[in-house]
Amino acid sequence: MDAKTIRNTFLEFFKDKGHEIVPSAPMVNRTDPTLMFTNAGMNQFKDYFLGNQTPKFKRVADTQKCLRVSGKHNDLEEVGWDTYHHTMFEMLGNWSFGDYFKREAITWAWELLTEVYGLPKDRIYVTIFGGDKKESLEVDHEAYHHWKEIIAEDRILYGSKKDNFWEMGDTGPCGPCSEIHIDLRPVEERKKVRGETLVNQDHPLVVEVWNLVFIQFNRLTSGDLESLPEKHVDTGMGFERLCMAIQGKYSNYDTDVFRPLIDLITEKVDMKYGGDEKTDIAARVIADHIRAIAFAIADGQLPSNTGAGYVIRRILRRAVRYGFTFLNFEDPFLCQLVPSLCEQFADIFPEIKEQEAFVVRVIQEEEQAFLKTLEIGLKRLAQIRETLPKDQKVIDGAVAFELYDTYGFPLDLTSLIAREHGLAVDETGFAAEMEKQKNRSKADAAKETGDWVAVKEDDTSQGSEFVGYDALESTSQLVKYRKIKQKNREVYQLVLDRTPFYAESGGQVGDTGYLEANGEKIPIIDTQKENELIVHLSPKLPPNPKATFKSVVDARKRFLTMNNHSATHLLHAALREVLGSHVEQKGSLVNDEGLRFDFSHFSKMTTEEIQSVEHRVNEKVRENIALEERKAVPIEEAKAMGAMALFGEKYGDEVRMIIFDKDYSLELCGGTHVPATGHIGFFKIIGEGSVAAGVRRIEALTAEAAERYVEREEQVLNEVRSILRHPKDISQAIQTLVQDKQRLEKEIERIHQEQATGLKNDLIKKIHHMNGKNVIIEQVRLPHGDALKKVVFELKQQVENLFAVLAADINGKPQIAVMISDALVKDGQLNAGNIVRELAKEIKGGGGGQPFYATAGGKDLSGLSNVVEKAKAILQ
Ligand code: SER
Repeated sequence: MDAKTIRNTFLEFFKDKGHEIVPSAPMVNRTDPTLMFTNAGMNQFKDYFLGNQTPKFKRVADTQKCLRVSGKHNDLEEVGWDTYHHTMFEMLGNWSFGDYFKREAITWAWELLTEVYGLPKDRIYVTIFGGDKKESLEVDHEAYHHWKEIIAEDRILYGSKKDNFWEMGDTGPCGPCSEIHIDLRPVEERKKVRGETLVNQDHPLVVEVWNLVFIQFNRLTSGDLESLPEKHVDTGMGFERLCMAIQGKYSNYDTDVFRPLIDLITEKVDMKYGGDEKTDIAARVIADHIRAIAFAIADGQLPSNTGAGYVIRRILRRAVRYGFTFLNFEDPFLCQLVPSLCEQFADIFPEIKEQEAFVVRVIQEEEQAFLKTLEIGLKRLAQIRETLPKDQKVIDGAVAFELYDTYGFPLDLTSLIAREHGLAVDETGFAAEMEKQKNRSKADAAKETGDWVAVKEDDTSQGSEFVGYDALESTSQLVKYRKIKQKNREVYQLVLDRTPFYAESGGQVGDTGYLEANGEKIPIIDTQKENELIVHLSPKLPPNPKATFKSVVDARKRFLTMNNHSATHLLHAALREVLGSHVEQKGSLVNDEGLRFDFSHFSKMTTEEIQSVEHRVNEKVRENIALEERKAVPIEEAKAMGAMALFGEKYGDEVRMIIFDKDYSLELCGGTHVPATGHIGFFKIIGEGSVAAGVRRIEALTAEAAERYVEREEQVLNEVRSILRHPKDISQAIQTLVQDKQRLEKEIERIHQEQATGLKNDLIKKIHHMNGKNVIIEQVRLPHGDALKKVVFELKQQVENLFAVLAADINGKPQIAVMISDALVKDGQLNAGNIVRELAKEIKGGGGGQPFYATAGGKDLSGLSNVVEKAKAILQ
């Protein structure tokens, strides 16, 4: 079976067992504050397990793009060195939300693997949870019992909490699990060593393929386990490993998932895969990493210097370095692999193909930038290694930090290179340096979260009901709350049964306002979303949490925000009309002050383009188009109508559509909008620039803010007009002014030159001979310091055995220059630096320089004549 068939067979199998096949969630996670990237298929279902939301289907299955490079699940260091770990991988999964449990999960897994895929039964081992005393968790007898019915008991192994109790992260849904391992070794080897002794021993050919998790608990921040009201199944099968097993390969990289990429890489450098260990590792690393990078970018995560963006940048740099060092790639090469990936995934993950040009462009520019510093950085690192004392095996944290800060070397890259030379890096020292820098830039303190405290005991609601599309006030009850510490301040997160507060999402900021009960008001300073939960932030906890509250949204702020959100939609449509349909939204920020819109486009917008966009938007504002809001439209129907969806955004199977003229702007959007576009009043672009490779940003204002902006601009213009005495053509007047100024500056410069030359000639006439020296000690006036310098240097050139001291009045400021011929300096008796320091006292100043030339500045112009007297005395 080829990879495509293997994937489809999985999905078909579970469809037949009553599962709804759902799309993969984006790999970059924007909805769960505990995760940066999707690290397991179950992430998108977390709310179902925790009871925050009711699932529409009790059984689902999918293939999920996962990335394990940060947090609890991080495989980065293994990637490329072994043949079965990856950064990005596909996880095939089936789920039951409070429906079937262990028996079905186990029986179906066995049926699919052995009967449908035809994997040999005698190569399969399973593990079950062996219990944990510390957590008071029992052996999973139930799973054992079900396995016993289908597999010989000596193939059922007991596993520890580490291997057989699966947790999503430090907190969240978890439970005992049963893993399925397969022994792919050749028969000879299997005869020598029994397979069960190699399970979970990091053997490359005895690998876990499928993990069946029985979600029964929620891990709290306190570390305690809380039992969930219902029992769920969460399974995850490593697609690439499954392909290895079914296709009879010894490495994931030999399957048709990776081999085309590997071949492409090695062909480019005219090398063979399967020869040299180092180049093989490099080829594997690159084949793996390019997938993570390309899919992250397609999901809207651009490489950057912070957070998820930095993780992607690190992976990209790691790949570039492997290519550069081991495969001799000196020009961008990762970007050249993208077209092959696009073809491979066009049917299952079309987002990458649809953005091919953009993905290529972003990767290419990142590569180019890093390749520039990589070589210099590698040389610096080699230098550091060579100068390390023989017995020192650790590279200093501060040095690693310098490499990071100056050459863009992520710590893991420095560690990797160090390791290749038998060295380690002082990671604690690095972290300390990093901390220092963070403190300097006052980064946010980490967020500490407490556990939820339930208030409404009889609560059966699933989180909050949002009523804020139609109302700005409602009555609410507090369902639960918790305390969090963020940026060193404590705030409460409040969850209400019903709320008019819009939670920050889709670029629109969260509402603010207050809750009121018994005459007391509790301010709401922000509203955010955690998965699907609407969380209100308040510095205070209501004195009586059980009260019924009046919840009131700050209406002015909301209305202004709505203007900007609707204007963003009009802008998006106008950009696609004016620039072309390659324009894709890459980010947005909408608040009461204005809007910011990032989009893919490869060149700076011209003034004409900006104006056309503004005209188009304002035209649509004047048309006063009524908002058409369609709730619960099936996503396929919405897309068929031409609605714009965002790559990397998670949409349900039913979506909300916001339409302003069905032939102009249709978007999938959860935000709040004006009832008709006329409310926007006036739209004005105030900035256009680049934010990243291939991404432009427009900043714009609407309504009063736009008016005020134009007013301010007009005021400046009026001031300029009046300063210029109201010329007919203002830009012509300014141009003339600038040209005149340049001409005059040149003229003045010429006069200054003449003055300096004249002065020099006068001074030469005044030379006074003394003990073989040609002495000039004079008080002079010059236009600027450069002229003084010029005069003394020219004197030096023309006059032998010169001893010159000029006490100059430079536009009312005293300056001294001392110039002595080299021949007089040689014997060491005369030193311009010493002399100028002595003279500077007379003008209340200081200075210094070299033995032949020194200068000083000061405050007291009246001291210049004393300088002359003193210089003469010194010379005497
Ligand atoms: N959540 C489990 C895992 O990631 C099974 O899907 O292994």
